[in-house]
Amino acid sequence: MAKSRSKYVCHVCGYETAQWMGRCPGCESWDSFVEEVAPAPVRARVPKQVGARGAGARALSLSDVEAAGEIRMQTGVGEFDRVMGDGIMLGSLILLAGDPGIGKSTLMTEMGRYMPDHRILYVTGEESVRQVKVRAERLGVTSKQFLLLAETNVEEIVAAVQETEPELLIVDSIQTLFRPDIQSAPGTVSQVRESAAALLEVTKSMNFPTFLVGHVTKEGSVAGPRVLEHMVDTVLYFEGDRHHSFRLLRAVKNRFGSTNEIGVFEMHDSGLREVSNPSEIFLSERSYGSSGSAVVCSVEGTRPVLVELQSLVTPTSYGTPQRTATGFDYRRLQMLLAVLEKREGLRLSTHDVFLNVVGGVRLDEPAVDLGVIVAVASSFRDIPTDTGTVLIGEVGLGGEVRSVSRIEARLKEAAKLGFERAIVPANSLKGVVVPKKLEVTGVRSLHEALDLVL
Ligand code: TYD
Ligand code: MG
Repeated sequence: MAKSRSKYVCHVCGYETAQWMGRCPGCESWDSFVEEVAPAPVRARVPKQVGARGAGARALSLSDVEAAGEIRMQTGVGEFDRVMGDGIMLGSLILLAGDPGIGKSTLMTEMGRYMPDHRILYVTGEESVRQVKVRAERLGVTSKQFLLLAETNVEEIVAAVQETEPELLIVDSIQTLFRPDIQSAPGTVSQVRESAAALLEVTKSMNFPTFLVGHVTKEGSVAGPRVLEHMVDTVLYFEGDRHHSFRLLRAVKNRFGSTNEIGVFEMHDSGLREVSNPSEIFLSERSYGSSGSAVVCSVEGTRPVLVELQSLVTPTSYGTPQRTATGFDYRRLQMLLAVLEKREGLRLSTHDVFLNVVGGVRLDEPAVDLGVIVAVASSFRDIPTDTGTVLIGEVGLGGEVRSVSRIEARLKEAAKLGFERAIVPANSLKGVVVPKKLEVTGVRSLHEALDLVL
C-alpha cells in the first residue's frame, strides 16, 4: 500500500516533485510549488458505478466494439456545435475555462434552453440553487428536465448522478469540489485532479457528456485549469473583454473535432446570443480615415473572419522603444518590425509601436502579417489606408509576400462584406475564382503592397 507522504506540486501546471524547487521545470513559473500531502489510495473509495467496466477490462476486437448510433448531441446553436466538432460527443469530459465573470455559468445554464428535452444535471458549488434559478429564469430556461444540485462533495455528486442518470452533467466549478478522502483543501492541485478523475470515471462509464467549469487563475494556491488539460477530451476557453459584449468560445484541445474553431457570442441582458456573422461585428466600430488601421482576413477554424488591426507608432521619448501587442504574438510583431526596418528603411528602432486587434480576438495566423505591416507603416507615415481594402498574406524575412491557404473563402467573405479591393500574395492567385465586384491584386513583395495602399 502506498504510504502517505508529502510532495510538492506546481499550482500552475501540476508538475510534481519530492523536493521544493524555486522554478518549475514544467512551465518555468517561479515560486509556484505548494506542499501537498499525497493521499493514501484514493480511487478505491469512490463508489464503482453500475455498468462500469465491471469484472475487469477485457480486450475487444475492433469489430466487436459497438459504435453507438447517435454519438453526438446537437444543441442546435451553430456557434456552439461547431466549436465542439458538430455537437457534443457522448461520454466526453469537457473543460470550460475562463476568467471569473466572463459568462461561463451563463453559457452552461443556457444548455437548459438549447436542449429542453434533455435531462441536465447542473451541480453548483459556487452559487445557491436559488441564484441559479434566478439566472435560469432570466435566460428563459423553463425545462422541467433541468435539475439543480448544490453540492461540493464528489462522492455525493457521483451518487446523485447514478440516481438521476442525466443526459448531460454540468459541474460549476471544479475548483469548489472536494473528496473527503483527500486531506488538502478544495481548489488545490490534488483535489482538483482527483475530483476530475472521479467524474471522468462516471462520465465514461455512463456515457454522457460532462462539462467542468474552471476559473483561470493567475496566482495563488488555487489550481488552474491547466492541471486538467491532459485529462479531459476537450478544452474550451471562453474569452472576451469584460467591458465589451463579445465572447469567444475557442477549443484549444479537442479529441472529437478541430481546434482553433471559434464560436462568437454576444452578452445581452437576457443571456448570450450567437453571432453567426462575426466579421460584421468585428468591423462595426471601425475608425475611418485615421492612419494605422488595416483590415485582415484570418481563417479561424473553418471560417474566414475579417478583423480590423490598429497600430500606433510614436517617437520614443526615452530609453528603449516600447512594443505592445494585444491579440497578436509579440515576437512575431518584433520580427515584422525588423523586416519593415531592414527592407523598407522605416526607422522603427526609435519609435514605440502599439498593435491592437479590435474586438478582443487573438490572431495567430501568418496570413495577417501583411495587414500588421501595413497598419504599422500607415501609422508611421501618418497616411490612412484605403478603407475598402482587405490585406491577406504572410511576410517572410526577405520582405517577400508568401502564399496562404483558403484564398477563395477569404475573398468571398471580403466581397460579402462590401470590400472593393483585396491585396493578396501573387502566388495564391493561380486558378482562383475571384468574386465579381472585388478587385484583386497579387503582390510578390512588401514593397509592392505598400506602394499600392499608402
Ligand atoms: P457568469 O456567467 O456568472 O460568469 P462566470 O460564471 O464566468 O463567472 O456571468 C457573469 C456576468 O455576466 C455578470 O457580470 C452578469 C453578466 N450577465 C449578463 O450580462 N446577462 C445575463 O443574462 C447574465 C445571466 C449575466
Ligand atoms: Mg460562475
